Amino acid sequence: MKKITEHYVTNESDYLNRREFIKKGAQFGVGLTAFNALPSMAEGVYGGELSDKIIKTNYGKDLTPHTFKQITNYNNFYEFGTGKRDPVKNAHTLKPKPWHIEASGECAKQGVYDLEDFIAPYQLEERIYRFRCVEAWSMVIPWVGVPLASVLKTFQPTSKAKYIVFKTLVDSEQMPGQKRSTLDWPYVEGLTIAEAMNPLSMLAVGLYGKTLPNQNGAPLRLVVPWKYGFKNIKSIVSIHFQEHAPINTWQDQASREYGFYANVNPNVDHPRWSQARERVIGQGSFFSPKKRKTEMFNGYGDEVAHLYTGLDLKKNF
Ligand code: MTE
Repeated sequence: MKKITEHYVTNESDYLNRREFIKKGAQFGVGLTAFNALPSMAEGVYGGELSDKIIKTNYGKDLTPHTFKQITNYNNFYEFGTGKRDPVKNAHTLKPKPWHIEASGECAKQGVYDLEDFIAPYQLEERIYRFRCVEAWSMVIPWVGVPLASVLKTFQPTSKAKYIVFKTLVDSEQMPGQKRSTLDWPYVEGLTIAEAMNPLSMLAVGLYGKTLPNQNGAPLRLVVPWKYGFKNIKSIVSIHFQEHAPINTWQDQASREYGFYANVNPNVDHPRWSQARERVIGQGSFFSPKKRKTEMFNGYGDEVAHLYTGLDLKKNF
């Protein structure tokens, strides 16, 4: 893993100022009948500024987010290279608009949706979540998105839908890293339906009140904060409902190192390093980085521990 060489300064006041402008809106739930009837968010979802469309939430209100620069300059996105600075340097070739998402498999409302229509029925929320990479570093990120459960319910999953599988775009012109077989493209990630329906799970379209930068997975990515970062699949084009557990990208690459669940767990080490502590990006010095103790489920145990009752988390890592 490469070391971060830049010195970052937390610019919290900028962020707090921006948050003052975020307006409160009424939360609304819209059924699928309204899916195509609603006005498009043409100037909204990827137009840059999203602040006037977002409601604040209590998620992470006591956390101090990392700076925009930190969150957008130290990334993992192998479709643009394997270095932490490759995504910010190379992801300008990605065209997040127009963007289509296909819903398929065990659901009543299969189809291909334009992202604007797909996201328009839902209230955008800001949620500040901890983010813990399996490589033992962490950040705090102010996401903008919608609860995954609301989106999935509108597709009316059948009783056979036990797992949800997400896929990233495959297009080596837009994603030049795909010209090499670093991974078996497309990048694939899956959740159990119970995990996907958990209130913490979200589909993010932005961060810091703006649309997602390409390097962070524009225009749509998964955010599941109690799991290692690699579950948070970027630039999603496909959502598939199925009966059997999928094999996810990193699980396929190295099943001894990366399991299906990938829940943050300080008691289960990666075969090549400890998961007991994490390096907080941008804190401490280059030679003496600040570390914090990793929390079970990344600190979200109250919300998600019940999903794994009776499961041996050492075996099901
Ligand atoms: N999604 C795709 N399509 N390709 C990737 O390489 N990397 C994963 C995840 N999602 C990845 C991906 C990993 S390993 C991490 S840690 C997070 O994205 C990083 O998200 P960030 O760059 O926004 O911090």
